[in-house]
Amino acid sequence: DAIRTEISRELIGRAADVDVVVDGIGGGKIGGRPGLAVMLVGNRADSATYVRMKQRACADAGISSYLETYPDVDGVTEEMLLDRIRRWNDDDDVHGILVQLPLPPKIDEGRILGAVNPAKDVDGLHPSNVARLFSSDTHDRTHDGERLDWTDLSSVPFHLPCTPQGCVELLDRIGCDIEGKRAVVIGRSNLVGLPVAMMLVHRNATVTIVHSRTVDARDVVREADIVIAAAGKANMVKSDWLKRGCVVIDVGINAINDSTAKRGYRLVGDVDYDGGAKDVAGWITPVPGGVGPMTIAMLLRNTYNSWKRANK
Ligand code: GUN
Repeated sequence: DAIRTEISRELIGRAADVDVVVDGIGGGKIGGRPGLAVMLVGNRADSATYVRMKQRACADAGISSYLETYPDVDGVTEEMLLDRIRRWNDDDDVHGILVQLPLPPKIDEGRILGAVNPAKDVDGLHPSNVARLFSSDTHDRTHDGERLDWTDLSSVPFHLPCTPQGCVELLDRIGCDIEGKRAVVIGRSNLVGLPVAMMLVHRNATVTIVHSRTVDARDVVREADIVIAAAGKANMVKSDWLKRGCVVIDVGINAINDSTAKRGYRLVGDVDYDGGAKDVAGWITPVPGGVGPMTIAMLLRNTYNSWKRANK
């Protein structure tokens, strides 16, 4: 939370600087404030909570946010969603577009994400942004020959997904030297596992991806200097899976029954934090409060960067 607050403050400071200059020019379509448009389809309570947290963070950072909700799953069509996205693509007040996932099964997720203008795709999920992250051409240069500096993610000239970016930012902010380290990523989702593995490769880590079909996952994880747990399985990684002193980034947010808790459940990560992992790891993120705030901070940063590029 402290790091997210620090990043929000940095953004507020920088947005305020630019605002003054742009107001002096006379406004028009340039200037104003950064704007983020969010699409929420269906009625999942967890998605609604995440969206509310994102909107609140926007308000705190001086970013305008626009929300379009489609609670009626039976009534919603892909055409309705595509039409909304196209209008946001053409709206000069919108610099970032986020489609909260998962979408209901009847909606073709790829079709919706593919309709977002890649320059406004602040979640980094459009196929062209995915391809740029997954291209070894972009290891140190873009296709346009621009130099790429993977040690400063906010300078990368295309959008990177927020949660993976937040993981790497946390490693940087604790002074973890990623180059040459053995990193094990647990999970292979489009949202976290695959992109974070690729970012760590660009930072010259040696990366292994562990997944549901991995044989002897514990022995693989025990080799890791850096563990990124993003499997979505409560308390899966036990303390004896960890090398002493390793850095653990726990991306999991799992609800488990707990009759003593206010709502009858509580949230735990993929790593058995209280079962001893916190005593073996050198660094470990808590759940909730570790990676979650970083995802939001990176969303604000991507939106700010998108606005800044539109104002160049
Ligand atoms: N659902 C869970 N996490 C995320 C995220 O980072 N982005 C989007 N769009 N949906 C999510």
